[in-house]
Amino acid sequence: MEFHVITLFPEMFRPFAGPLGRAVEQGLVRVEAHPLRQWGLGRYRQVDDAPYGGGRGMVLRPEPLFAAVESVLEQHPGLWRVLLTPQGERLTQRLVRGLAERRPGLLLIAGRYEGFDERARALADQELSIGDYVLAGGELPALVVIEAVARLVPGVLGNPGSLDEESFGDSLLEYPQYTRPAEFRGLRVPAPLLSGNHAAVRAWRREQALKRTAARRPDLLARTKA
Ligand SMILES: C[S@@+](CC[C@H](N)C(=O)[O-])C[C@H]1O[C@@H](n2cnc3c(N)ncnc32)[C@H](O)[C@@H]1O
Repeated sequence: MEFHVITLFPEMFRPFAGPLGRAVEQGLVRVEAHPLRQWGLGRYRQVDDAPYGGGRGMVLRPEPLFAAVESVLEQHPGLWRVLLTPQGERLTQRLVRGLAERRPGLLLIAGRYEGFDERARALADQELSIGDYVLAGGELPALVVIEAVARLVPGVLGNPGSLDEESFGDSLLEYPQYTRPAEFRGLRVPAPLLSGNHAAVRAWRREQALKRTAARRPDLLARTKA
């Protein structure tokens, strides 16, 4: 699967560590950052300008953004275009699963400064936010999307079974996990996990996932019931 990013900071997209790094090495995933500055205007490769109507900060001009998207799509047709903005739809595991189906891949457009000229919205198939807070740029949101999506690409995770049960898989948070030792500073691993009885382990995990979700994220539970 391919990830292309239009950005003012291409150096933020290498190198990757861990499973994503291995996936890039093995050719399962390709990440390419395209410097927006290369489509900048005039001698100084200008990409931003002051907002009409006044106000603080600078706004990304539409011409370099349109030229960048058109050029990347010419070389890599069929990419799903995602504009990263705090005003977009909030990223969830359900949206991540949808993005992982988009082949050949994604074209992520990262903003900076005070964001995009409004006309750049026409470039996007989808507008995404990674949460209700404002970052200085779209590079970290792009990396969040890349990592969340890439780990769903077949072959990227060493143990794909771990995807089935993790948080949000069935709209529940994951059950508590334990490893050795069986007792640590007086805190014991719950007995069902040590029982060797698979049915008992499954029942305990389901009950814990429900309890944990009810305590921490009742909104998820309400959605499951609806
Ligand atoms: C400082 S922000 C601009 C915010 C904009 N003035 C607003 O209020 O909506 C600069 C860029 O960072 C990125 N960004 C910041 N927070 C984000 C978030 N929560 N999700 C996705 N992208 C974000 C976007 O690409 C945005 O264009």
